[in-house]
Amino acid sequence: MEGRSIVFASGKGGTGKTTMVANLGVALAQFGKEVILIDADITMANLSLILGMEDIPVTLHDVLAGEADMKDAIYEGPAGVKVIPGGLSLEKIKKARPERLRSIMKDIGQMADFILVDAPAGLEMTSVTALLIGKELIVVTNPEISAITDSLKTKLIAEKLGTLPLGAVLNRVTNEKTELSQEEIEAILEVPVLAVIPEDPEVKRASAYGVPLVIKNPTSPAAIAIKQLAAKLAGIKWEAPKPESPIKRVFRALFGGRG
Ligand SMILES: Nc1ncnc2c1ncn2[C@@H]1O[C@H](COP(=O)(O)OP(=O)(O)OP(=O)(O)O)[C@@H](O)[C@H]1O
Ligand SMILES: [Mg+2]
Repeated sequence: MEGRSIVFASGKGGTGKTTMVANLGVALAQFGKEVILIDADITMANLSLILGMEDIPVTLHDVLAGEADMKDAIYEGPAGVKVIPGGLSLEKIKKARPERLRSIMKDIGQMADFILVDAPAGLEMTSVTALLIGKELIVVTNPEISAITDSLKTKLIAEKLGTLPLGAVLNRVTNEKTELSQEEIEAILEVPVLAVIPEDPEVKRASAYGVPLVIKNPTSPAAIAIKQLAAKLAGIKWEAPKPESPIKRVFRALFGGRG
């Protein structure tokens, strides 16, 4: 059976696409799903860094350059999630032909329940190619007007290309008065908001350690929201753990988890 292929895209850069793909992928794998993550951010690949994967001899770039076989660029990451990482070298970026991504998707289509694609920001050629290779789209946006207008462009282009917009993920939400509300965002984008992920300092801490947040700190607010989205996508009932009590947090801060 062919798996679901979902592209995570945004107009504006830095909305949290890579964070979302990495953590959602790990969360889906923790729920027992077969998952493949592809770093389709050809020029600024960094998915493998967030997942703490190093020593990658063969990357997606070698495959896109026609110099390596797809099978050799699939690695096992945290919680058993499979990852097709991008290369970091400028020389390899020059040789890669992004249009080959489509045939790669054909090759891996049967290999997983979910194929999550980390797209580049913007609407340049590599971004449009990433939109083309998935059947479904999730827009990752922040609750501010500039991010939303850019997300709308991404959604409209995806629709023109025949990719189905599933909905939006609102990331880095602080509930400040200046933020657009979920209802306003749904009215502008004309798609449902699938998840609201709070601003959470643990996200940056986890990526600095190269350990996905849902593993490093599974009870942090952003991790819980991401796991809820994973459960929704997987059609699984999942009860979020209760947030840590303030007293436990104080003990953890003072004695490093022994409280
Ligand atoms: N919920 C969150 N709370 C706090 N920080 C976050 C959150 N989500 C993402 N970040 C931080 O925001 C920054 C951008 O995240 P990320 O790299 O995932 O975005 P991106 O959309 O993939 O960016 P790009 O467009 O450059 O590919 C990172 O430093 C990340 O740690
Ligand atoms: Mg990214």
